[in-house]
Amino acid sequence: MPKILILYYSSYGHLAEMAEALAKGVRAGGGEPTIRRVPETVSDAVVAAAHFKVNEAHDIASVAELTDYDGFIVGSPTRFGRIAGQMAAFWDGAGKLWLSGALTGRVGAAFTSTATQHGGQETTLFNIITNLLHFGMTIVGLDYGHAGQSGVDEVRGGAPYGATTIADGDGSRRPSADELAGAHYLGEKVARTSAKLLA
Ligand SMILES: Cc1cc2nc3c(=O)[nH]c(=O)nc-3n(C[C@H](O)[C@H](O)[C@H](O)COP(=O)(O)O)c2cc1C
Repeated sequence: MPKILILYYSSYGHLAEMAEALAKGVRAGGGEPTIRRVPETVSDAVVAAAHFKVNEAHDIASVAELTDYDGFIVGSPTRFGRIAGQMAAFWDGAGKLWLSGALTGRVGAAFTSTATQHGGQETTLFNIITNLLHFGMTIVGLDYGHAGQSGVDEVRGGAPYGATTIADGDGSRRPSADELAGAHYLGEKVARTSAKLLA
């Protein structure tokens, strides 16, 4: 059974919610999911001023545990069109694993959230994917088997490059049923792909 790490950073809970849907998908695909978050890095003053949530239920990840997993689904909200510093800092601390090629050949996938529909969905996904490719991972995307990413009848997250949601400027929009289904689809695909690569 492939072990899949769902690793996220979230300031307002959207990606924490997407992580739970991903975990259900991993289970449906025959994998064993673990959800972890990365440490907060901004000052307490910024956390308070921006009303960041710092008490999500999931445990904080350690770099040391990364070698325990066969697949990685990494989620970061966009920050000015790119990966959050908190997530970048975590991977910046994993240089030793990069140097030894310890994660080469494992499976990687991405998920994100933006405030606006065009505020950095694809650029942030590619930021995450770029990071994972440098660690030698085989990338899995959200193919059009998740039909819910098509159509303009409603606000829709989801892209061929990963699962996404759209939070709105004040964070009031929560992941839609369709976006959670996209996360589930991606989790299942990562588990199935990891199992095949392990075989
Ligand atoms: C410093 C900062 C920069 C941000 N930059 C963008 C941006 O470039 N485009 C955008 O659509 N949203 C931007 N946002 C909004 C976040 O992406 C949004 O709050 C997040 O997707 C919500 O996910 P979360 O609840 O998991 O944190 C920014 C938020 C912060 C705090």
